Amino acid sequence: MITVALAKGRLAQKTIELLEKCGLNLDELKVETRKLVLYDGSGNYRFVFVKPSDVPTYVERGVADFGVVGKDTLLEADKDIYEMIDLKFGACRLCVCGYPDSLEKAGGILKVGTKYPHVTKEYFGSRGKTVDIIKLNGSVELGPVMGLSDVIVDIVESGKTLEANGLKVLEEVCNCSARIVVNRVSLKTRKELAPLFEKIRANLQ
Ligand code: PRP
Repeated sequence: MITVALAKGRLAQKTIELLEKCGLNLDELKVETRKLVLYDGSGNYRFVFVKPSDVPTYVERGVADFGVVGKDTLLEADKDIYEMIDLKFGACRLCVCGYPDSLEKAGGILKVGTKYPHVTKEYFGSRGKTVDIIKLNGSVELGPVMGLSDVIVDIVESGKTLEANGLKVLEEVCNCSARIVVNRVSLKTRKELAPLFEKIRANLQ
């Protein structure tokens, strides 16, 4: 049996649609339930539903053979797993955002609010900048609005949250989208994976 780690929400919905196109019967996954472990019709695939940031952990530890996760979460997790396929959906940008003059106006060490402290440290570090990273868990845009931070590093999808709070994209860190990530041992030992990934690639075109 192949175990797949999925994060509940939009990425899971899109992944289910894609896997159905590849021939899997995933009726059980489309029924409203509080169950966290579900199976495909053939019983060859087991799906576990976890928090997005836990998908790389399940895959690295080999509890799941593969998973689907956003590139942003993947960069932040920094795990020893194989990034296999860019699924293209869930597209967004990871950006430095703030008021138009936030970067110029900030005195001393720049204060950065973010759900992505690791990515933020890497980004500013690679530019030779030391920053004060303030880890937040949501509603990150409030950072500059409330004066908690000078800027934020966060996901921008439609840009509506920024706009509604008077903020702008100041710098782009990277483009993100959903990725299939695979356990390094499973990639070598689970021979069923290669044909499935081939079908997935074919259905993306
Ligand atoms: C994410 C992100 C931004 C928003 C961007 O937050 O942190 O706040 O979506 O989307 P937009 O550009 O389409 O407005 P999420 O919805 O995950 O909620 P959170 O604030 O609880 O993290």
